[in-house]
Amino acid sequence: MTASASAPSPATQNPASPMRLGVMASGKGSNFVAIARAIADGTLNATIAVVIYNNPNAGVAARARDFGIPAVLVNHREFAQRQDCDRAIVKVLQEKAVELVVMAGWMRRVTQVAIDAYPHRMLNIHPSLLPDFPGLHPVKQALDCGVKFSGCTVHWVTLAVDSGPIVQQAVVPVLPDDTEESLQARIQVEEHRIYPEAIAIAARQLRNTPSEPPA
Ligand code: GRF
Repeated sequence: MTASASAPSPATQNPASPMRLGVMASGKGSNFVAIARAIADGTLNATIAVVIYNNPNAGVAARARDFGIPAVLVNHREFAQRQDCDRAIVKVLQEKAVELVVMAGWMRRVTQVAIDAYPHRMLNIHPSLLPDFPGLHPVKQALDCGVKFSGCTVHWVTLAVDSGPIVQQAVVPVLPDDTEESLQARIQVEEHRIYPEAIAIAARQLRNTPSEPPA
């Protein structure tokens, strides 16, 4: 059986049933917490089946356990090839019957292995108004450029980094005395608001038009 053959098909799901999410995170996990809270307070019809993290000390693992959600370490340093690491990730996602993958501060490029297993079913959040400032240090890039407005973007994941079709964005004004830290903090407030919204939009697209790419 291939990786993609065993992935759950949204077409077979009851449109009203909670979307099964798999969260992938590398850091402290504030976006994970925002999503878990939106589910807990009933504003997002979803369930988080698993959190996958790649850094042994990532704070997100403890946050997941606070919510009673299994956290699985897939440490990329233990794999010779990126593809092997992605195969291990896909295995965990499929074992947990994940329908929609949510990258929340996942600081690794994905390979075709992951894209093939979850085509048009992986979301990412990036702290800039894409297509501006993809890649590393987007908040610093924005400040260095002198833009007056920045923000954050939730987009579908494609092989090219931070480049897939956009699902949701929020604008954050840049203040004259902003530092990377102060601007990042205000952008994160908006990230926590729009990521649950974007997941709801994505879930509707997947459930309502399962055979169409949700571009
Ligand atoms: C977020 O700012 C996200 O945009 C970026 O990584 C950060 C993750 O933060 N890709 P957290 O771990 O969710 O707090």
